[in-house]
Amino acid sequence: MLGELQKIKETFDKDLESCVDLNSINLFRAGLIGKKGRLTEIIKNISSLNREEKVKVGSLVNELKHEIELGVKARIKALSRTGASGDSIDVTMPGVASRIGRKHPLTVILKEIVDIFEDMGFGVVEGPEIETEYYNFEALNIPKDHPSREAFDTFYIEGTYLLRSHTSPVQVRFMEENKPPFRIIVPGRVYRPDATDASHSFMFHQVEGLMVGEDISLADLKGVLEIFSKRLFGKATRMRFRPHFFPFTEPSAEVDISCIICGGAGCRVCSNKGWLEVLGAGMVNPKVFKYVKYGHEKYTGFAFGMGVERIAMLKYGIDDIRLFFENDFRFLRQF
Ligand code: PHE
Repeated sequence: MLGELQKIKETFDKDLESCVDLNSINLFRAGLIGKKGRLTEIIKNISSLNREEKVKVGSLVNELKHEIELGVKARIKALSRTGASGDSIDVTMPGVASRIGRKHPLTVILKEIVDIFEDMGFGVVEGPEIETEYYNFEALNIPKDHPSREAFDTFYIEGTYLLRSHTSPVQVRFMEENKPPFRIIVPGRVYRPDATDASHSFMFHQVEGLMVGEDISLADLKGVLEIFSKRLFGKATRMRFRPHFFPFTEPSAEVDISCIICGGAGCRVCSNKGWLEVLGAGMVNPKVFKYVKYGHEKYTGFAFGMGVERIAMLKYGIDDIRLFFENDFRFLRQF
């Protein structure tokens, strides 16, 4: 037994040195102190020795066992430093590609809209999403209990605070602070208590437009919108004004463009009408000018408001508004 122990001790360093990976180290270790290892066999037979031998062999075994454990640990550490142990990082392996983000389709279309108006000299203005009844309704000539409040009704927060139902209140806010002439657009979120379906969302985006000066006419409104629709939807796009009612513009119109799918012949997208409604517009009602204390009859102006989702849906052929807000990568990755 002593001879066998001596042999193990003598060859241990060299044998360990010849182990070049984690697997061979484990096999080597098991061959010594595993279930059927050489050292384990010796320990099993210690009981057959006399007292004196027991003490001698016992202490030698303990010493050797300790040495083996330390040596194995050190060898594993040394190998992992050189990258050969099997569980270290293989720097030659292909990496995991990190996914690069992209712009949301609404951000893309909003930038296109803003760019077109900026080219025509419009400045970009923003306003608060939490509004007062005064700005959202009253100063826009929508008095309390007037039936047209219904179309713009919204979420009330506390007292007279509410989530704005359109971007038109920013018209009033801007005119209170600025004198004509000016031309601005106002992009932003708006809120309506609509039940969600393929064409309705309780939150959506609008771009408001407002141009005021001394000789601004309906012809200017038509010209600006014509340039806008041709640039956004293509040169062949035609436009038409349909009489409508908004309390804050007079006269008012709903503006259609010729269907971008069928060109006006009639198809499923335009419900065979050949036209698509894209925005509301009109000449600023003098009553609104009074609220912002502009001199009587000196100024005229036009205003318009468009839904960004609706325009994106038309331009990209999207048939469900909910897709914009569900964060489904399969949808978002297409833009
Ligand atoms: N604020 C109107 C709406 O939300 C749109 C509009 C804006 C109409 C400006 C006329 C002038 O429906």
